Amino acid sequence: MSDNGTPHGEVVSHGGDDFGSDAVRLDQGHIEGSGGLPARFENPGLPPHVARMSDLSEKAAKRAEKQVATLFGIASLATIVFIIAYFTVDPEMTAFVPGIGEANPYNVILGVCLGLALLGCGMGAVHWAKTLMPDTEMVEERHPQRASDADRQRAVDNFLQEGGKSQIGRRPLIKFSLAGALALPPLALVLPLVGGLGPLPKDNLSKTIWKKGDRLVRDPELTPIKADQVTIGSVYHVLPANIKESHEVLEDKAKAAVLLMRLDPSIIKSKKEIDWGYDGIVAYSKICTHVGCPVGLYEQQTHHLLCPCHQSTFDVTEDCKVIFGPAKRPLPQLPIEVDSEGYLVARSGFHEAVGPSFWERG
Ligand code: FES
Repeated sequence: MSDNGTPHGEVVSHGGDDFGSDAVRLDQGHIEGSGGLPARFENPGLPPHVARMSDLSEKAAKRAEKQVATLFGIASLATIVFIIAYFTVDPEMTAFVPGIGEANPYNVILGVCLGLALLGCGMGAVHWAKTLMPDTEMVEERHPQRASDADRQRAVDNFLQEGGKSQIGRRPLIKFSLAGALALPPLALVLPLVGGLGPLPKDNLSKTIWKKGDRLVRDPELTPIKADQVTIGSVYHVLPANIKESHEVLEDKAKAAVLLMRLDPSIIKSKKEIDWGYDGIVAYSKICTHVGCPVGLYEQQTHHLLCPCHQSTFDVTEDCKVIFGPAKRPLPQLPIEVDSEGYLVARSGFHEAVGPSFWERG
């Protein structure tokens, strides 16, 4: 033990200046070099063992034993009742069960018995461990991981001997061809980065097949919709009529799907939404701007659209802005109008890309 009280004589400050200007407080985060840090920390050891009632008194131990046995007994009893009920109670019967009401007693009895059986086993085991099993902490010192010098030498000898048998030293052709075989394959991974990762998507991800004059048709009936058929509170799953001519129906449908709703115009808060709609009828992309699930739930009372995948929620009364969830952009609105026969048609395509935001989007 050194003068400063540390076992190895290192400079360790205790908060004062007793150890000179080199002393560094161990709790002052930024420490460089070894000044102030002991080469080895003292083993704090284990706290003293606190004896339990059952360690001190045989009477208390007996009491604990009875409690454990009672819990195990409850578990056994519950299992026996379970087995009897399984064969004797009519599974089709219904009856009034206190606390539950009209229920199937067969299920109730089996459930309660199974629960009690498991609970009894678990509680009994825990109580046993806490009151009667030895609770002194045991320490097993770590053994050195290093192999003995003799084993290490044997491993080196084996490697040299067996390596020599492989004739790698005597067969330069194999040696160099092996080096090439191991060195070249990683190039196959690097090559696509240099040569390109395939054709660029161009504007495929940004455009849908919606265009000016396309009638809005019901999905999947593909029948056109007249404005006066859309009552307040109704919602339609809609596609463009030209989906019938598409050569890539699934791909086009996945991007062009739209939800059509009619709201009371007085509750719409956005002028743009009113202008792009028709008398309270508004059309929004059905593709969630989070990761592209279909936004499938419309809450008629709150006028919220909900995406079931991760619960992004959009407010239809205000440009379908995101009011909850991980989506980052509002749902794009499709401008609509009515043609000479009263059918709803697109006034143009979408003015922005539908679906998830992707990295090249501004
Ligand atoms: S895809 Fe809609 S919330 Fe994630």
